[in-house]
Amino acid sequence: MSSRAQKRRVESRNLKRVIGKVREYLKTEKPLGWQQRIQLLLAWGNIGYSASARYLQQVERIFRESEGPIMECGSGATTLLIAILAEKYNRKAWAFEHHAHWANHVNDVLQALELRQVTVNHAPLKSYGEYEWYDVPTGLPNDFGMVICDGPPGTIKGGRYGLFPVMGRHLDPDCRILLDDTHRKKEQELIKRWEGERRLGTHPIGFFGSCTELALMS
Ligand SMILES: C[S@@+](CC[C@H](N)C(=O)[O-])C[C@H]1O[C@@H](n2cnc3c(N)ncnc32)[C@H](O)[C@@H]1O
Repeated sequence: MSSRAQKRRVESRNLKRVIGKVREYLKTEKPLGWQQRIQLLLAWGNIGYSASARYLQQVERIFRESEGPIMECGSGATTLLIAILAEKYNRKAWAFEHHAHWANHVNDVLQALELRQVTVNHAPLKSYGEYEWYDVPTGLPNDFGMVICDGPPGTIKGGRYGLFPVMGRHLDPDCRILLDDTHRKKEQELIKRWEGERRLGTHPIGFFGSCTELALMS
């Protein structure tokens, strides 16, 4: 076996072990602690692109405070966390991923771990005129109760603007949205732009406001 294949085997064995421990821990019904979140991130092993342990904490908090299906924009460590929580609490999640190879990889890992409540949909980016967003498949639910928005990359045309214009009709009026990277000027401008177009509650999280919770106001 090549050293690369061997490394992958060891990594996947480690991921299975950590997921097993997290599944056990969740039987206590308690939210994950820092230790579990950090173990999950290390076992996932895509440091540099993965969400932070603090972001995972917010993902779990909103998961526990919301109801209904979950939408995820961009996929990775957060998908894994959502998949474990969705398995435990019997919810469904749809993740959108513009990168075909990455979508296959995340789906393969979920399958290997027998995590069946989340599907990663390969959704290439498409032009909507002044912005780009995922080419959304048909047949999506219209009552998403939670959105995790950590993709597509903020560098695409219009950044993450497309979330409301394209996905808005699929969101439940009580939907809770967690947008990452809001310490960046571009994301701050984006929130202002959305606020100018609809009534939106915004709640920056943490000292640097590196992520922000958004809610539609009726
Ligand atoms: C900031 S990443 C975060 C995804 C996810 N929320 C997580 O916690 O891992 C957003 C996007 O970067 C891309 N990506 C993830 N890992 C990558 C890697 N190692 N190299 C290049 N692009 C990557 C994927 O398209 C993904 O949807």
